[in-house]
Amino acid sequence: MTVSDEILVDVKDVKVHFPIKRGVIFDKTVGHVYAVDGVDLQIRKGETYGLVGESGCGKSTLGRAILNLEPPTSGSVEFDGIDIAALKGEELRHKRQDIQMVFQDPMGSLDPRQTVESLLLEGMKAHGLAKDGKQANTRLRDLLKAVGLPVAALKKYPHEFSGGQRQRIGIARALSVNPKLIVADEPVSALDVSVQAQVINLLEELQDEFGLTYLVVAHDLAVVRHISDRIGVMYLGAIAEEADAEDLYTKPLHPYTRALMSAVPVPDPVIEDRRERILLQGDLPSPANPPTGCRFHTRCPWRQDTKCDTERPLLRSLKIAGVPESHRVACHWAEQIESGELKMHTVKASLTAQTDLTSGGDDFLGPASVQEAL
Ligand SMILES: Nc1ncnc2c1ncn2[C@@H]1O[C@H](COP(=O)(O)OP(=O)(O)OP(=O)(O)O)[C@@H](O)[C@H]1O
Ligand code: SF4
Ligand SMILES: [Mg+2]
Repeated sequence: MTVSDEILVDVKDVKVHFPIKRGVIFDKTVGHVYAVDGVDLQIRKGETYGLVGESGCGKSTLGRAILNLEPPTSGSVEFDGIDIAALKGEELRHKRQDIQMVFQDPMGSLDPRQTVESLLLEGMKAHGLAKDGKQANTRLRDLLKAVGLPVAALKKYPHEFSGGQRQRIGIARALSVNPKLIVADEPVSALDVSVQAQVINLLEELQDEFGLTYLVVAHDLAVVRHISDRIGVMYLGAIAEEADAEDLYTKPLHPYTRALMSAVPVPDPVIEDRRERILLQGDLPSPANPPTGCRFHTRCPWRQDTKCDTERPLLRSLKIAGVPESHRVACHWAEQIESGELKMHTVKASLTAQTDLTSGGDDFLGPASVQEAL
């Protein structure tokens, strides 16, 4: 589908900090989990934005903040020019119709006691789309057809379907209220590999048919590559790099993305043998105690003695020939790394607050690669 220049979702410096409480009587706040910590992101109408990153980096929390299911601690989310956080009651309910979510685990998100018909009618009734019985019936059939399920599915219960079929029901439910944006949080992670591509293809077809905009959250680079126009790579509550999908895959510029990409095997055996692998060492630090400066500095093979551990890098366009302005990177040294002026060095894993100290010293090196960690 063609992507317009019009911005549908405008996320401005959004932070979501969860208080960590201790104490039975006084319920004292002893710290915060900085799940999302300053994210700027725009999604254009008709676009598919892929959000990728390791487990716990804040992808789902950001998705929920966009729906205002998790009201941001600070910052704002504008949807179609309207600040969602400022909406209340009926207005908010009405706006919610425009933004629907598809979850990772369709079994967990579909009430097992309801038939597919009643699951689909629920949202339609809530938004006044099922007033005319005959029209509602036609709509139900159209929805099933759109997601590739037979009409007979209407009378069945979620447990009577396979995982892939259940995800189709979850997608039909999201579609039932005519949304503009669908936030799909790990939509295929729970499915067999053979079924994943079918569901991804279905999402793409539906985008064309219904003019949808998507935010697709995944930890699997392969999933977002196929479906996304643009991709944001998240690390510890912030976007480390953002670019058009092709630009990101052909020229990753942030050290973290370079490491992620280097873990993806290349089909050509000659290139596969020769290509450089960047092994990330050390655990992902805890979002309750994120590193100072650049959040990636505890694991970065290009870390420098100045700036890296003191100044937080902004997401910025680079002055590199051939790199478009839309390709933005949060690294102080991205230009020098790309030109080869700065060389990679080995990183000694440093202990972070939440690390299990029993494993001890240099033996604790976390996953050998990001792919292993994901
Ligand atoms: N309601 C909550 N209260 C406290 N902490 C939370 C809450 N929800 C999430 N977190 C924490 O915020 C951080 C980010 O969580 P989030 O679920 O957004 O990560 P994620 O990137 O979606 O991970 P995954 O790939 O495992 O789904 C994690 O450390 C998580 O434990
Ligand atoms: S700012 Fe420094 S630590 Fe962060 S990614 Fe760039 S080189 Fe690495
Ligand atoms: Mg998640």
